[in-house]
Amino acid sequence: MEIFLLGTPAFDVQKVDDVYTTFCSDFTVRSKYVIVATHYPFINFPGFYFTKMYQSSSYLIAIDPKKTLFNGMYISAAEPSFSFRTANYQGKKLLLIGGGEHKTGEPPSYQYTYGALEDVAKKYYPDCDILFRWDTRDCISLDKIPYVGHYSSLMPHVFVGTGFKKWGMTLSNVAANIVVDEILQKENRFAYLFNPSRLSAFKNKDEFKNILVQSANSLVFDKFRPAQMSFDEIANNSGSIIEINNQKVGIYKDPNGKIFAVKPICTHLGCQLSWNDVDKTWDCPCHGSRFDFSGKNLYDPAIKDLEIYDLD
Ligand SMILES: Cc1cc2nc3c(=O)[nH]c(=O)nc-3n(C[C@H](O)[C@H](O)[C@H](O)COP(=O)(O)OP(=O)(O)OC[C@H]3O[C@@H](n4cnc5c(N)ncnc54)[C@H](O)[C@@H]3O)c2cc1C
Ligand code: FES
Repeated sequence: MEIFLLGTPAFDVQKVDDVYTTFCSDFTVRSKYVIVATHYPFINFPGFYFTKMYQSSSYLIAIDPKKTLFNGMYISAAEPSFSFRTANYQGKKLLLIGGGEHKTGEPPSYQYTYGALEDVAKKYYPDCDILFRWDTRDCISLDKIPYVGHYSSLMPHVFVGTGFKKWGMTLSNVAANIVVDEILQKENRFAYLFNPSRLSAFKNKDEFKNILVQSANSLVFDKFRPAQMSFDEIANNSGSIIEINNQKVGIYKDPNGKIFAVKPICTHLGCQLSWNDVDKTWDCPCHGSRFDFSGKNLYDPAIKDLEIYDLD
């Protein structure tokens, strides 16, 4: 039995001597079966998940409401929607408020994200303390139904579970059952609904078109569009893409004016990144990879850090 080490990204799976070999940074793992449960699948070809899935970001705050809390989980019906649930923390019951959803890579504003959550918190719990803030992201398939089952007909014995659309705690159980049944060659009456190769997902023409248009813009057209800002216009604790010697450079100036310069091109498949001024990250509009202001890779499907420029 192989033991996986935490914090060791896998970057490729190939057949070597007729056995699947998963390549990680420091070692390889050989196995008869491979299950790719890495949030966004990291094998681009075959599978082509980048043509049929995008990521959505949302924001959370944890508050001490200074009041007795209700039990349960709630989602508001109105738009924009907010979710509410409790969490125990150091003997206290905190309230988690979620919302501010937007497609990853679309530059968000503070008021639409944390600002909106803080407004809701103060509206219902005026005396609350806001203790924590964070963001999360989710994979969304074209037809909003997860992709679970064979990764691709070209990779027998490789399985995937992804596209949980914010419901991964629940749907990962469905995925586990389907994959186990596939491996044991048992019939599973729900498997066809989640089949990753289903063509029916492409019937959602609007979502498919969105992915194509976004990819064309970020891969090609945005790269020819002039930068919107000059170096001097970038305020401290903010960032933007500028041009230096006809080359696009991603600049972030920290609160003290220290400069971080990166090549603003995603290391996944080469789309142009956009600056996220709320989280101080470089985000990819194509499939949702994210990098911190210094270029370090934070979230998949990209695995590598951004190229760094030395401006001296
Ligand atoms: C506050 C909050 C509340 C939620 N509430 C609910 C709820 O009530 N019900 C519900 O159903 N869902 C809920 N969700 C959503 C749910 O948590 C997610 O949908 C789920 O965690 C997604 O599971 P995943 O396995 O696809 O990805 P992840 O949980 O992100 O797991 C992927 C793992 O793969 C690893 N990985 C990534 N790339 C690689 C690589 N290249 N090599 C090796 N390892 C890699 C990552 O480090 C990570 O450990 C909630 C989420 C949040 C943030
Ligand atoms: S995430 Fe795919 S190109 Fe950036």
